[in-house]
Amino acid sequence: MYQTLLTEIQDGTFIITINRPDKLNALNKDVIEDLGKAIDEVYNNNDIKTVIITGAGEKSFVAGADISEFIELDANGGSALGRKGQEMVFNRIENSPKPIIAAVNGFSLGGGCELAMSCHFRTASENAKFGQPEVNLGLIPGYGGTQRLTQLIGKGKAMELCMTSDMVGAEEAKSLGLVNHVFPIAELLNETKKIAQKIQTKAPLAVAKVIACVNDAAKGNPNGFENEIVRFGECFDTGDKKEGTTAFLEKRKANFAGK
Ligand code: COA
Repeated sequence: MYQTLLTEIQDGTFIITINRPDKLNALNKDVIEDLGKAIDEVYNNNDIKTVIITGAGEKSFVAGADISEFIELDANGGSALGRKGQEMVFNRIENSPKPIIAAVNGFSLGGGCELAMSCHFRTASENAKFGQPEVNLGLIPGYGGTQRLTQLIGKGKAMELCMTSDMVGAEEAKSLGLVNHVFPIAELLNETKKIAQKIQTKAPLAVAKVIACVNDAAKGNPNGFENEIVRFGECFDTGDKKEGTTAFLEKRKANFAGK
């Protein structure tokens, strides 16, 4: 079904592995198309509860957009590329009602850093390296990097990283708030899966509302507080709220149906 991705569902966690290791998993047109289809699957397949995006091999998550596809592009072609990627993949990852975690297993540069940042949060292997090196190519980030890097690590550091093309290692990325956890590479996927599995025990509709509310805050949506009140209220009409509160009072584990 996919030319450039390996996918499997393990215990409700959909693992998407970008699979062009000979090109360090660079995002060419085919990868973007395939990621778009994989995100359709995330939205539409009820067997998928949580998602992990990672890269094939132990060297690279994604080393950027495929630079070989840039040579022929003019201004219109460049903005069309950025728009298509943002609309088809990056924004839909960010707005997915199901949690999507990036497990960053090596280089996460340019479009790779942008892909990781579009996910709801990130884990990284000890050898991971993050950067936005587009100015080396006479370009700027085009898949949301200037916006999401600023949201995640603040203006000053985002400016510096985008201007210098410097890479930051996993521990520094953690101290900046770009990644939440650093694991040895051999444990990255399993440890990330444990986090996904923990989230799967929680109320799915409430988790989806958390994503929407935190995204409002990150984007500086002026209606964020009001949206939180409305979504908080909506939770009270769900079966999940009934199950969660009843289970607490009955001193048992809740079993959520996502309804
Ligand atoms: N686009 C297209 N091909 C890429 C790529 C990219 N973003 N990143 C790596 N590749 C390819 C290389 O061209 C090479 O292909 P080849 O074997 O056919 O020559 C292969 O992947 C391996 O990369 P290589 O550069 O030989 O590995 P390295 O260990 O010497 O260096 C990097 C690793 C990540 C430092 C280096 O590949 C790099 O700087 N990549 C580009 C990063 C970038 O600018 N990304 C932003 C793009 S907007």
